[in-house]
Amino acid sequence: MAQAVVHPNIALVKYWGKRDQDLNLPSTGSVSMTVSTFETRTRVMFGVPDDLAVLNGRTARPDEAVRIFEHLDRVVPGRRPAQVVSDNNFPSAAGLASSSSAFAALTVAAADAAGLEFTPRALSALARQGSGSASRSIWGGFVEWQRGSLIDGSDSHGVQIAPASHWDLRLVVAVVDSGRKPIGSRAGMNRTMATSPMYAAWVASYMADVKQARQGILDRDLEAVGDAMERSTLKMFSTMLTSVPPVRYWKPASLALQDAVYRLRDQGVPVWWTMDAGPNVKALTTPEHADTVRAAFEGGCEAVHVLGVGGPPRLEP
Ligand code: DP6
Repeated sequence: MAQAVVHPNIALVKYWGKRDQDLNLPSTGSVSMTVSTFETRTRVMFGVPDDLAVLNGRTARPDEAVRIFEHLDRVVPGRRPAQVVSDNNFPSAAGLASSSSAFAALTVAAADAAGLEFTPRALSALARQGSGSASRSIWGGFVEWQRGSLIDGSDSHGVQIAPASHWDLRLVVAVVDSGRKPIGSRAGMNRTMATSPMYAAWVASYMADVKQARQGILDRDLEAVGDAMERSTLKMFSTMLTSVPPVRYWKPASLALQDAVYRLRDQGVPVWWTMDAGPNVKALTTPEHADTVRAAFEGGCEAVHVLGVGGPPRLEP
């Protein structure tokens, strides 16, 4: 038995689309920040009579169970039946890729429960096959998921750019709508790949954003990182909007929150926004300006969370 606690991550340069569905290989590289405070706690126990998964206190739906136990087969080939109990301490409606911490925690706990030792990169490549963004939650701080070029996907994994101690930042998360999203990220990105005429430009242009974000992180240059993040975000949404039918996640409140970020920036506040596969808006800023950003967001959304930079996965006794 083993129990792992893992933080989700937020993409600064986005992953949107796959070059291989079976191995879950991305069309582009991406860059992320692991966040503090929010975490997934997952316990894996082998040697029970049957596979059973309990997520946030309820039995997993059949589609969820299939994804979980197929992933366990991957991490521990020839495994025995297992019980998986997983809880998030944060609302999945916050739109912080909960699959990132979920599949990273499942990978780390399963490997430890089976007594298998993997390098972090091997763990990341395994987590990637559960959910792409999970490949980046194997480290704290700032992480790049390298696209890789090998056909077996073994070079498509995360690498840490810098640990959490490198740079103290805040992510201010504005929850716009806690309802279910119209289309999940996996289905959304597959539709985009299949139908958007902008998709080729997305793939052709990502590297400049990765380089700028990576260097910006190393230099602690928030403007460089924020600029790369907003550009990557807008390009990702341009591919979604030009899909057939369009993949639309933005709500009027999302645009109002973006406006609030631009207004603050005009006033000299260092803050940049991003969004993912949902209507929520997340803003990257310094610790000194987090309260100003929070105040600007309150009233324009259902809830605001202020997160820091999170550490690496940990195993609990
Ligand atoms: C918009 O990692 O959930 O959050 O690999 O199909 O499980 P799968 O996709 P997932 O997609 C995340 C998309 C995103 C951007 C990002 O996190 O890079």
